[in-house]
Amino acid sequence: MTSSKQSGIRLAKRLDEVGFSDIVQMRNKVMAMRAEGLQVHALHGGEPFFETPDEIKFAAVRALVDNQTHYAPSSGILPLRQALVEKLAAKNGIQATTDEVIVTVGGAQALYASFQSVLDPGDDVLVFSPYWTPIGDLVTGAQARPLLVATITARRNGIRKTLEQFSTPKTRAIYYNTPANPSGTVFTRAEAEEVAAFAIARDLIVFADEAYEDLVYDGEHVSIASLPGMAERTITSYTFSKTYAMTGWRAGYAVAQEPFMTALRKIVLYSTNGVTTPVQYAMLQALATPESQIAARREEYRKRRDLLVSALNEVGLQCEPPAGAFYAFPNVEKIHKNSRTAAQILLEKAHIATIPGSVFGAQGEGHLRFGYAVTIKEIEDCVAALRKHIA
Ligand SMILES: Cc1ncc(COP(=O)(O)O)c(C=O)c1O
Repeated sequence: MTSSKQSGIRLAKRLDEVGFSDIVQMRNKVMAMRAEGLQVHALHGGEPFFETPDEIKFAAVRALVDNQTHYAPSSGILPLRQALVEKLAAKNGIQATTDEVIVTVGGAQALYASFQSVLDPGDDVLVFSPYWTPIGDLVTGAQARPLLVATITARRNGIRKTLEQFSTPKTRAIYYNTPANPSGTVFTRAEAEEVAAFAIARDLIVFADEAYEDLVYDGEHVSIASLPGMAERTITSYTFSKTYAMTGWRAGYAVAQEPFMTALRKIVLYSTNGVTTPVQYAMLQALATPESQIAARREEYRKRRDLLVSALNEVGLQCEPPAGAFYAFPNVEKIHKNSRTAAQILLEKAHIATIPGSVFGAQGEGHLRFGYAVTIKEIEDCVAALRKHIA
């Protein structure tokens, strides 16, 4: 029987345009190749090379043994929020109260809650591009539209001028990620001030994503919410995934003022009702990590960056040393102009797994993302494969 009536068994329309991550597809390909017994240089991911430090794990175990297994306040346990307030003041120059921070299930939930809190259907969000892929889907999932602004063009022609060119009467917000995934761009203080001036002049909200705040090799990390007039219009998201190697713990937080906090609290309450209680004790312990340890790991990443970037340039894959995060984003047109094809060729010929640049927005085309948060040995093996197959 044919019917023009739509089936009742269907999904919410707002999910129609929400995609699934291409990064997961590459992960599956790598697993299939490994299952065939092939050696793969896996540089497609974004996970730290070290394990969660023992003292953090023990804090979670201790919490379990002490029966910290009950409901916690859905915005986070008070000692953790107090420690976050201190960290934000000391490290980010953000003055917040314990009511202005919320503990989230990774940076991912902080970002999801931010977009859901602010965006109405039909709103536009300025997004520097190339950008971390889920951002496009998070914006679209809130029935808003990402307006892609090429980071390179903006930095060359003037950030404020470029943002003005791309913005529309429907523009409500800017997504501002520094250090950036995938390009490793670290915006300077002067650039942050330009973004801030534009946001204030246009009365926009800023979604600041500082997942890689501890991984700046050249320059300084500037939290845009610390600039004058910005704390009241910025929701900043953080994660424990990268700094403390806690990807699987799903630990993050957001800082914002009212009215945003009320909305963030509602979304966290009705989605997860907070973060697993023992995980919050582990987070508290992680915050006690001495800065010297974080700096030592940063130097480890710098070594990896320098090794990989010099090899990429040597084989003709032009790459500026990224100032932050743990990704290199070379131009790979020498392999193929289409980055999906280039990734396929590199995987088949050299068994190097990367992510096609076009996945991160049209501005990423012609590039591949190499994640260098792997062991030195893995970088050396990858470099040998590049020299053998690409030079
Ligand atoms: C730019 C950026 N923001 C946020 C996140 C969120 O990380 P998580 O959800 O693991 O805390 C990531 C993770 O890769 C990222 O690259």
